[in-house]
Amino acid sequence: MKESVSNDQVIQSHYKIQAEKHKDSPSSTMEDQIIRQKEIESIFSFFNLRDTSQINNKVLEIGCGNGYTLEQLATSFPGTEFQGLDFSHDLLAIAAKRKIKNASFSQGDTRKLTFDNESFDIVYTERCLINLLNWEDQQKGLKEIARVLKKGGFYFMVESFTDGFDNLNKARNELGLDSIPVAHHNLYFNKQSFKQFIEPVFTIVDPSSLGNADAKLASNFLSSHYFTARVIHPLLTKGDPNLKNTEFVRFFSFLPPSGEYAPIQAFILQKK
Ligand SMILES: C[S@@+](CC[C@H](N)C(=O)[O-])C[C@H]1O[C@@H](n2cnc3c(N)ncnc32)[C@H](O)[C@@H]1O
Repeated sequence: MKESVSNDQVIQSHYKIQAEKHKDSPSSTMEDQIIRQKEIESIFSFFNLRDTSQINNKVLEIGCGNGYTLEQLATSFPGTEFQGLDFSHDLLAIAAKRKIKNASFSQGDTRKLTFDNESFDIVYTERCLINLLNWEDQQKGLKEIARVLKKGGFYFMVESFTDGFDNLNKARNELGLDSIPVAHHNLYFNKQSFKQFIEPVFTIVDPSSLGNADAKLASNFLSSHYFTARVIHPLLTKGDPNLKNTEFVRFFSFLPPSGEYAPIQAFILQKK
């Protein structure tokens, strides 16, 4: 319990700084703008799938931050009712100012949602569950998402996994670059434990079975970008590995995804 309280403080203070620094900008919580753009393309590809694009859907974004992504979606899908939930009062205050017609925002905790069972057709998260800093809390978050989803409803998750991250650091180490550490406010999922845990309640859906063979929706949609931005670019420049948004990296961002070199991955889960 004590650990949980201090983890919560870590998260609240981290996002207070993000809110002050980035306000309503797309750089809030993600300074790498290619990652931001590709995440949004991937979420849009999901929403455009045959089985997810019906109007009258009720959609929940957990960890909506400053509401940037939610606003893009709500504007493009005016027949859909969106709710954004976040733990951070500071980011939510910015999201609420967007005044989006078909969206509302509330403060809450993904480990204990106050929504009724089976309230939503779609839940999505963009790097939110990795802010739960132990596996038990992450399990609670996943259980709550399953609880509030209707049977057959979808959870589109854009979250980070250790496998892609380990491959990335292995590639860096081979070339004499140091490993990148995991940020203090994140805990990445172990793919095997994750798959075992969700198996009783969710099926992992192949996007092509829902009528989409789009590279933007592949689980490894960020792999080529990570390899370019975090291996090749720092190797050539011998510069700051955190240097973001260069033209060199942008050029390679037009490549299709290849390999498993990205911690951030996307999965479509369907409630059984
Ligand atoms: C990496 S940020 C991503 C925000 C937003 N999705 C974006 O892409 O900018 C993670 C978000 O999850 C929120 N969050 C962290 N722990 C949470 C929890 N237990 N319940 C709900 N939201 C949480 C944070 O406040 C933060 O806004």
